[in-house]
Amino acid sequence: MLFDSFNRRINYLRISLTDRCNLRCIYCMPEQGVPKLIHEDILTYEELGRLARLSVGLGIEKIRLTGGEPLVRKNIGDLIKALGEIPGIRDISLTTNGVLLAEKARSLWEVGVKRINISLDTLNSKKFNEITHFDFFNQVWEGIQEAERIGFSPIKINVVALKGINDDEILAFGRLSYEKPYHIRFIEFMPVGPENGWSAERFLSSEEIINRLEVLGPLFPVNGQDFDGPAKRMAFEGARGEIGLISPISEHFCPSCNRLRLTAEGRLRVCIFSDDETDLRTPLREGVSDAELESIIRETITRKPKEHPLQMNPLPRKCQRQMSKIGG
Ligand code: 5AD
Ligand code: SF4
Repeated sequence: MLFDSFNRRINYLRISLTDRCNLRCIYCMPEQGVPKLIHEDILTYEELGRLARLSVGLGIEKIRLTGGEPLVRKNIGDLIKALGEIPGIRDISLTTNGVLLAEKARSLWEVGVKRINISLDTLNSKKFNEITHFDFFNQVWEGIQEAERIGFSPIKINVVALKGINDDEILAFGRLSYEKPYHIRFIEFMPVGPENGWSAERFLSSEEIINRLEVLGPLFPVNGQDFDGPAKRMAFEGARGEIGLISPISEHFCPSCNRLRLTAEGRLRVCIFSDDETDLRTPLREGVSDAELESIIRETITRKPKEHPLQMNPLPRKCQRQMSKIGG
């Protein structure tokens, strides 16, 4: 098992497969995009597979693939298959914006992905264009329906709560959790990246979201499970789905943080809000041994901070890496 300096067990690795994305969400990427990594900078599937195998050997049990948008990377099924064959891996999942999901869901299912997280901040196609700068709402919705038909479970829908932009849809999302077996997870807007539009006026706390949702009826807590992560789970009585609240700002979940992040260019990050990163690609490409790579990974974990500095008052300091290059 793998522990950090604060005795937190580290068993979850989020791997960003690419910094590229087929959307431009206002809170993540500027409309004109950001400078992209070149192909050679990005870890190959072979390199990723090796790092994943070593990490699982050290104590990682759960891997999530993120981006940018992970489904824009070619032949992702080959990687997932290889990851699934690592002895000791217990869970592989994916966070996608859903644009390519309708066409790729079946092949993801066939290589062993059984549950999926989809980012969708609005149920209104016009607003979808305003938030993402692309006209893909119907495509994403169709992707979600297809995932449901195939049998993915749970289907989690991540909604970044943006005051003045989508807070008028909180109840619509709440109702969706009655009708559909989806886990609707509201995420507090975080100031990550140099120009992500964060301001106190745009911020909506989980507490405010719950207050608004309770117009629909009381919310009951849902018992957590292994691998739940930081979401507080709740449900309306009689609902097919659930509500989740993820509160990185109003309620720090750092004491139970179990994760590491690997960026597409092979940098290991110990905290979403810290720009402290360890370059694994250079030693990897210099041909160092497994034992040396393992010791670099272990050493990096000792630098995982106790907590992040974000809070509402005083106003947060922003981390400099673009969200699309961290993977959420
Ligand atoms: N604040 C909160 N959530 C964010 N995400 C991306 N940027 C932010 C932000 N600034 C979410 C995405 C996705 C997940 C990976 O992170 O919507 O669901
Ligand atoms: Fe793309 Fe996700 Fe960033 Fe939106 S949040 S621009 S979908 S990487």
